[in-house]
Amino acid sequence: MLVGLDTYDDAGVYRLSDDLAIIQTVDFFTPIVDDPYSFGQIAAANAMSDIYAMGGVPLTAMNIICFPVKTMDISVLQEVLRGGLDKIKEAGALLVGGHSVEDDEFKYGLSVTGTVRPERVLTNRGARIGDHLIITKPVGTGIINTAIKGNLVNKEIINEVTGIMSTLNRAAAEEFEGVDISACTDVTGFGLLGHACEMIQGQEVGLRIYPDRVPLIEEVLNLARMGIVPGGTHRNRDFRKGFIIGAEGIEPSMMDILYDPQTSGGLLIAVKRDDSQGLIARLRKKGVKHATVIGEFIDGPREKITLFTQV
Ligand code: CO
Ligand code: CO
Ligand code: CO
Repeated sequence: MLVGLDTYDDAGVYRLSDDLAIIQTVDFFTPIVDDPYSFGQIAAANAMSDIYAMGGVPLTAMNIICFPVKTMDISVLQEVLRGGLDKIKEAGALLVGGHSVEDDEFKYGLSVTGTVRPERVLTNRGARIGDHLIITKPVGTGIINTAIKGNLVNKEIINEVTGIMSTLNRAAAEEFEGVDISACTDVTGFGLLGHACEMIQGQEVGLRIYPDRVPLIEEVLNLARMGIVPGGTHRNRDFRKGFIIGAEGIEPSMMDILYDPQTSGGLLIAVKRDDSQGLIARLRKKGVKHATVIGEFIDGPREKITLFTQV
């Protein structure tokens, strides 16, 4: 076993031979958008993201379905599965099976198996002093999804956030070849600061993040200022606030965004400083248009994130 339960990493990694390891991960959740096809795409992109975050490529996937067959039309499930399958195909992976149970609440996701060369496995640990921190998707899906439930956003923003969540992190992961990357993870339920914390916990480094540089989904700051914030934000803050320095200097609504739980968020990549602008250029050329350097790993305070407003 190369990566197991102890580091809270994105997925498990098991070495099969000197040049081949398998990555295994599973993710499923309740619908977050009304459109079933989009929900299928988002759930599949989210599940496969953990394979990309480990530096791997998804190979096979299995559907996980909990469906209220007595109260929901089967056509909804068919559309969700069609969306998921289209994403699996886009990723170049194969759907090989699945399992469904009856449940009061609809849930869908995938278990995914991927492959990676053992020496290319990326975990959330290992960032070096001086490395830049890159994020590849804008932040704010939790806030936007809360606003969607309250009918507070227009169609364009719903389309934008749906597109962001259903975008595979593949384009990002494919550009890693030849770039000096020391650590990687993806941004999901613990929010940007929660997952950034995982990159420094137990490590001999600290992290400086510039909130002004974090790419945001349109309207997110306005919605946060209106108090449209999901419950998970507060849980994330309570869990991580002891690791954060400088929060009092940041607008409270911006802090809510930094703790906002993300669905199918972008990758967080620790990359050698000299390689970061080249990687950003490659990512943007590949259509990862929000890829941005949002911070850097520093020698101290260790295991803390220091927020800086001055860019
Ligand atoms: Co993950
Ligand atoms: Co996951
Ligand atoms: Co990882």
